[in-house]
Amino acid sequence: MMKAVLFDLDGVITDTAKYHFKAWKHLASAIGISLDEQFNERLKGVSRMDSLKIILDYGNCFDQFTALEREKMAEQKNYAYKQLIQEITPNELLPGIRKLFVDLRDNGIKIALASASKNGPYILERLKIDSFFDTVVDPAKLRNGKPDPEIFLTAAEQLGIDSKECVGIEDSVAGIKSIHAAGMFAVGIGVPENIGADLRVVSTSELTIESLFSHFKHQ
Ligand code: BG6
Ligand code: MG
Repeated sequence: MMKAVLFDLDGVITDTAKYHFKAWKHLASAIGISLDEQFNERLKGVSRMDSLKIILDYGNCFDQFTALEREKMAEQKNYAYKQLIQEITPNELLPGIRKLFVDLRDNGIKIALASASKNGPYILERLKIDSFFDTVVDPAKLRNGKPDPEIFLTAAEQLGIDSKECVGIEDSVAGIKSIHAAGMFAVGIGVPENIGADLRVVSTSELTIESLFSHFKHQ
């Protein structure tokens, strides 16, 4: 029985993926690395420092910077990103998401945030949806990022619900892998067909409690 839905944030609840990309692109171009939308798929769901490593490896220059310089770069990216998100309003909730929260709550299904973003709680407040969440995983306390299952397992543990009764919703390849590794039912938004999400939708407007219930039952 479906007892909890564990949400990724960026690209699932709101389209902050575009702001992350904008901030990384700016930082990368300052050191001569050019990033495109396709490359951005590799950064989705990945922590701040791991994203920086992927970018610097891509530019073949990871070792040219000291650990301290890399810390500073990540801080710079986060500063730029925070400038971009400070004006977010509830209008930026993706289609269908608010209704899904209301329906889940009204049906006694628990709601958790399983996002790698340290800015998650701030964004939930800006979107005025923080009160829907029964629990929020603190990514700073995790040892392993997605695709490791730790974040989704921690969310289930914080809720006191068995993994088999949880649904995870993700827009990234790393995230779908993480949900599957946690033994959960994986819903993918706009993810490639070949990564095997249990339910694939093109838009969040297709995410209804009815579709989650019916597909989950047929698993
Ligand atoms: C994930 C995003 O949700 O959070 C990644 O998909 C991002 O792109 C990661 O790097 C960490 O976010 P933040 O806000 O802590 O830098
Ligand atoms: Mg995401």
